[in-house]
Amino acid sequence: MALEILVIVVSYLLGSVSFSVLLAKLLKGIDIRQYGSGNAGATNTLRVLGKGPAILVLVLDVLKGIAAVWLGTWLFGWGTWAAALCGIAAIVGHNWPVYFHFRGGKGIATTIGVMATFAFWPALSAGIIAILAIVITRYVSLGSLIFVALTPLFLLLTDYTPPILWTSIVIAIFAYWRHRTNIVKIAGGRENKIGSKVKGGN
Ligand code: G3P
Repeated sequence: MALEILVIVVSYLLGSVSFSVLLAKLLKGIDIRQYGSGNAGATNTLRVLGKGPAILVLVLDVLKGIAAVWLGTWLFGWGTWAAALCGIAAIVGHNWPVYFHFRGGKGIATTIGVMATFAFWPALSAGIIAILAIVITRYVSLGSLIFVALTPLFLLLTDYTPPILWTSIVIAIFAYWRHRTNIVKIAGGRENKIGSKVKGGN
């Protein structure tokens, strides 16, 4: 039990490494959480710093999720509760990072890493529909919300362990909570569209 707790804490600490905050500091000397949507994630990095840094943040944030699930799977076995909690802990770290006053991102890139590692085909299917929604509406947040809602549905249609299914449900609850202001803006037609830049950015 002690080892499980230790590895879950390590996963949280790994998730807490906020690459958008670090990169914005490094490249521009700014706190990205004071620009654009105020979110410490790849979408806001695109708005504030541009394509290259955004792709780097996206990849690194996805890798955090993959690394946490790999670590948990290697130590405790595939699809176990302990491995699932490692994945959830990485997302909690990304959203509420201990190193950055608990003000982080919305967890989608790290969620992609976690869910694609646990359940590649359901995550890919949800991802394709989410990307289509983004291309059509140009709302990344809408695509994110579709992705996290569809993943548990696709998992239900296939054969995955209860910890993996529950991980996807818990992650979806986190994501909807973190996107609550996006949801209000989408409903009011005021949501930022992908490609729009912000003052003070690149
Ligand atoms: O993954 C975050 C995205 O869904 C929304 O980001 O910056 O538009 O709030 P943002």
